[in-house]
Amino acid sequence: MQTINTAKSLSEQCRQWHKEGLTIALVPTMGYYHAGHASLMDKARTLADKVVVSLFVNPTQFGPNEDYASYPRDIDRDTKIAAEHGADLLFAPEPSELYAPNASTWVEVPEMGSLLCGVTRPIHFRGVCTVCTKLFMLTQADYAVFGNKDWQQQAILRRMVRDLFYPVQIVGVPIVRAEDGLALSSRNVYLTEEERRQAPEIFRGLDYARQLVSQGETKASVLRDAVLRRWAAKLPLGRLDYLQVIDSENLTQLDQITVPASMACAVQMGKARLIDNIRLN
Ligand code: PAF
Repeated sequence: MQTINTAKSLSEQCRQWHKEGLTIALVPTMGYYHAGHASLMDKARTLADKVVVSLFVNPTQFGPNEDYASYPRDIDRDTKIAAEHGADLLFAPEPSELYAPNASTWVEVPEMGSLLCGVTRPIHFRGVCTVCTKLFMLTQADYAVFGNKDWQQQAILRRMVRDLFYPVQIVGVPIVRAEDGLALSSRNVYLTEEERRQAPEIFRGLDYARQLVSQGETKASVLRDAVLRRWAAKLPLGRLDYLQVIDSENLTQLDQITVPASMACAVQMGKARLIDNIRLN
């Protein structure tokens, strides 16, 4: 596996691969790898001739009071994991490589980006769309692989790619969970022992809603109340950001489950803001 730090070298290498008739799968990441990231790389390996993993903690998707500075980083360990999971190229640039000092162009999907996480993180998805656009441009990837845990991110990127005719196919990969159900996340390292003990209740609550739907419940308010009651008893350290029943594709809130629907949430547990989602039907 080669490691590249400059946008120019990345673009040249990918152009060369395309010239040779090879396909490229891109795995955009912010590093600090766990089994969820490994599953994205494994999926990418099955899709294309060459796998490019980007490792970049993207400053523009963090708000001023968020954890950009303290976001966990371990490039040596990440380099090893990416190589073990079949990456051909690791792209690990400095922020100045992707953002010129006077960079002033943004890509945004404003409506979808203002829902759910966008309420408390108003600039987040603009940063994600902009950095993913840069990565798509530099690699001209045929596929880009994202985890289903960040469902809103993936739905927004699908819309961006559709609306702007980006020649890349977005591929989603199922959430990887710890044995007790907690969705793997680099931010789980922020959890104290007691927070970590309670955190699987986030998934258990969502899964309870899914079970109610399989038994015939279709009213969003009933599902939401059932989960909130459960969390009040079993997740006392969790502070609810949002819990919504949504249209899985366009992310709008539903009253009744009449279309493909998901339940999505964000819960603050101490220093960690945890998100999760489940397909309900
Ligand atoms: O999901 C992430 O890790 C980031 O949002 C992404 C897609 C790498 C963009 O910085």
